[in-house]
Amino acid sequence: MPTPLRPAALLLGLLALGAAGAGSAPPEPPPTLAETGLYADPATLRLAPSVLFYQPQYPLWTDGAAKARWIFLPPGSAIDVSDPDAWEFPVGTKLWKEFAFGGRRVETRFLWRATANDWVFATYVWNDAGTAAILAPVDGVAGAAEIAPGLRHDLPGRLDCRACHESARVEVLGFSALQLSDDRDPLAPHAETLRPGAVTLAALEERGLLSPARPEWVARPPRIPAATPRERAVLGYLSGNCGACHNADNPAGTTGLLLRQLVGSREGSVPPARATTVGVEGGWLIPGASGHGSLRVAPGDPDGSALVYRMASRRPASQMPPLGTKVPDREALELVRGWVAEELTPRR
Ligand code: HEC
Ligand code: HEC
Repeated sequence: MPTPLRPAALLLGLLALGAAGAGSAPPEPPPTLAETGLYADPATLRLAPSVLFYQPQYPLWTDGAAKARWIFLPPGSAIDVSDPDAWEFPVGTKLWKEFAFGGRRVETRFLWRATANDWVFATYVWNDAGTAAILAPVDGVAGAAEIAPGLRHDLPGRLDCRACHESARVEVLGFSALQLSDDRDPLAPHAETLRPGAVTLAALEERGLLSPARPEWVARPPRIPAATPRERAVLGYLSGNCGACHNADNPAGTTGLLLRQLVGSREGSVPPARATTVGVEGGWLIPGASGHGSLRVAPGDPDGSALVYRMASRRPASQMPPLGTKVPDREALELVRGWVAEELTPRR
């Protein structure tokens, strides 16, 4: 016969429930990368069979780091894609992104939906031999690897992670309908050719990992409705590299500059990264210019465009993105400058 719950035990139980709610300490990341579940065999770095490899079509520029990315979805689960632009990942989802400079692994970043309310952020720093990685301090590691003569890569601290990863409705930034579209942009800066086995939207749909099913994403893979191929790559780059902060869900820092490309309801309208930049005066003035704000994108004039200026700058007060890189992205700048100079006509 079951023992009836005594009132004191009931009260304790309720207190425990309360403690597991809003006030409780968030779960801690495991102390080593090996314990996060990425590898079946940490000694040989053989990957766990349950992790899926993927390649976003508009990768984030991190001073030329070579990156590899994986996702783990709990067995039997699926991603809730009811809102095409804000995927809801099942509790237990894990994502990893490995950074290498000059062929040497330097850090592996980790994002884990540990509970319904907690996303855990961490980065793991590799030993020189590249055989194992341990949890980096909460504030990151300055100067972890050389990226160019006299310049070193910093491992971001956890607050830095959150600056980018918690400025939109979804913590996950690069595993999305546009980023995984099978209609990949051949002009995307630092585009990678798809490796065999990399999951795309079609693969997710085929494996039943999207809920509800999205056959339309296979029939008509998401694509930025741009005027020209070059403009498509420009808008995609801005969405992938800047849209984490510059989006409509982040009123704090964005001053009406919307660079995130949506695939859902607003599809078909003028891309926001065009509508809120071309010929639009912003709240930021190019040093030495006169007026209240410079045009974000001045048609025909890359040097008079605040957006181009800030992408090219690495002065802390000007640089965009404001954190995460020390070297401007030359390839992307050339693409954006060409678009502004050659494809946008100045008004007379
Ligand atoms: C400058 C903004 C920025 C900072 C700072 C940043 N990230 Fe990211 N991160 C991104 C973007 C954008 C992507 C998606 C594009 C890509 O993967 O290249 C991404 C991708 C990832 C991924 C793959 C899953 C995903 O969201 O697409 C992981 C894991 C990750 N970041 C973890 C971290 C952790 C942990 C930190 C801090 C130690 C961190 N990031 C700091 C912008 C940032
Ligand atoms: C980590 C968040 C973050 C990321 C990522 C980011 N920005 Fe910003 N950006 C801001 C904030 C906050 C402001 C407002 C304060 C300021 O002007 O410095 C801003 C302002 C701007 C402005 C001036 C807006 C205006 O008209 O007032 C431009 C232009 C800009 N960013 C361009 C970019 C570009 C281009 C990228 C990507 C290459 C980018 N940003 C990435 C946070 C971010």
